[in-house]
Amino acid sequence: TWTMSAFKDQEIERIRKLVGEKGQVLGAVSGGVDSTVAAKLMKEAIGSRFWAVLVNNGVMRLDECEQVQKDLSEHLGINLTVVDASEQFLDDLKGVEDPEKKRKIIGGKFIDIFEAEAEKIEKAAANSDMAGKIEFFLQGTLYPDVIESVSFKGPSATIKTHHNVGGLPERMTNGQGLRLIEPLRSLYKDEVRELGRALGIPEQLVMRHPFPGPGIAVRILGEVTPEKVDIARRADHIFISEIRKAGLYDQISQAFAALDPSRAVGVMGDNRVYGYIIILRAVTTTDFMTAEAFEFPWAFLQRVTNRIINEIHGVCRVTYDITSKPPGTIELE
Ligand code: XMP
Repeated sequence: TWTMSAFKDQEIERIRKLVGEKGQVLGAVSGGVDSTVAAKLMKEAIGSRFWAVLVNNGVMRLDECEQVQKDLSEHLGINLTVVDASEQFLDDLKGVEDPEKKRKIIGGKFIDIFEAEAEKIEKAAANSDMAGKIEFFLQGTLYPDVIESVSFKGPSATIKTHHNVGGLPERMTNGQGLRLIEPLRSLYKDEVRELGRALGIPEQLVMRHPFPGPGIAVRILGEVTPEKVDIARRADHIFISEIRKAGLYDQISQAFAALDPSRAVGVMGDNRVYGYIIILRAVTTTDFMTAEAFEFPWAFLQRVTNRIINEIHGVCRVTYDITSKPPGTIELE
């Protein structure tokens, strides 16, 4: 619309002034709508003086890292570095069952990896014709994130650690380290999508469901192992592919498959077999503070269930979670 295309031009001007002729900006991307729109805006404003970093934390969805690399690097022309740290993340998660602990480990590790990468990029940049320190850090913070992180301060601050906001070490963003740029800070999600369209980002990217930073790790109840990640990932892929095939993706706000590691019994031939339980979840919501389960046609749920049981060894049951929020949350952990 006119408003967001005007916002785009105005914001590009503001970024150019702020960063100057030689300034360089670093930013983390995830493939999600917010970081993609923020990155594309930076690319329009300062070209390859914006350095994007994608960290593979080992708990992303099936083929997601490759897909994001293609979208951002090849299609949107963003200067992108991909760091594969999946083994390090999965090692650190070994034996950890507590959801908040998982979030902290992933958030902390992310900062370590990101800082190390920033140093490498800075060194490389110093030896190029773009010599000059990276002074700025891009964050895709939205208006609701700003509100939420403020209201989360206080005794209940640990309800859920949100690593979109204030997730970086102080030394990086306290004015002595990197200066923060948050171009989406005044926008709501639907405005960010509108801005994405104004920037020419393909509809499929603009309409992507949100995905949590700790990824599949908070969709596996209890301990995360490579085997469980593999199973949860493949079940999720089947579910989302079928949702797309049925033309339902844009009617749903968020959908995923989670894994319950309890062993349920099943029969295979003449034998009793024991396997994991897959929990499907799909919700509609406008603000993610309240949500309703999506009402699938019965045949759709049967099709997805049959595919998961037949195609994924080690799964014995598939359930569909119809709990609304509240009292449930959207994620299982
Ligand atoms: P809940 O489960 O609290 O989720 O109803 C609300 C929204 O927040 C997302 N979510 C997270 N996002 N890190 C994130 O970046 C997290 O730890 C996290 N936990 C939940 C969730 O996917 C939903 O969109």
